[in-house]
Amino acid sequence: MDIIQTNRLVFREFAQADLEPLFLLLSDPTVMKYCSGPMDLTGATKWLNAAMACYKQYGYDYWAVYEKNTGDFIGQIGILNQQIAGKYEDCLAFMIGQKYWNKGYATEGALACIDYAFGPLKLDRLIATVEPENLPSIRVLKKIGMKFDGETTYADKKAYVYSIQKGEFRE
Ligand SMILES: CC(C)(COP(=O)(O)OP(=O)(O)OC[C@H]1O[C@@H](n2cnc3c(N)ncnc32)[C@H](O)[C@@H]1OP(=O)(O)O)[C@@H](O)C(=O)NCCC(=O)NCCS
Repeated sequence: MDIIQTNRLVFREFAQADLEPLFLLLSDPTVMKYCSGPMDLTGATKWLNAAMACYKQYGYDYWAVYEKNTGDFIGQIGILNQQIAGKYEDCLAFMIGQKYWNKGYATEGALACIDYAFGPLKLDRLIATVEPENLPSIRVLKKIGMKFDGETTYADKKAYVYSIQKGEFRE
């Protein structure tokens, strides 16, 4: 099912047919450097099934993102309901395959995702957590208008928190 369209990208709910490209993404040590490390096929299968369960529970999670002009799977962008510092938060998150880095895809997709969160999903606030060394990710968060909102610990590592409220988006 198509969820979001941008100029260059289309977001779809993950389906079993996405397992192979998802596994290629999640098994890449460079992509996974700041995302809990590379996964094996069992981990990727659990990841896919968890996303599909979250669509039922919350209506969102990571979506599979495709390049419109090639039909290529380029990565995943979405909103994750996660416990951060003991509180459930809606977290914007993105992972793009290396071949597609620095084309503005994460920025384009994340902006559309925020629109979808504050529009159809009726969320009021999104946060993002990022390791301080993950400079490309921090750059994307700044480009889309998220503001530094302190530090936390996530998966036993120091993380910066960025946030955006509904009223602040595209003011
Ligand atoms: C973070 C990530 C999603 C960005 O995707 P992307 O599609 O390349 O992002 P964009 O092209 O929209 O923007 C990247 C920006 O980072 C900048 N950048 C790239 N490498 C950088 C570096 N080493 N230091 C600082 N900025 C850097 C780019 O120049 C660009 O900024 P600009 O438009 O001002 O020039 C991608 O690098 C990725 O998937 N990383 C691995 C997964 C990850 O860490 N996800 C986030 C946490 S789980």
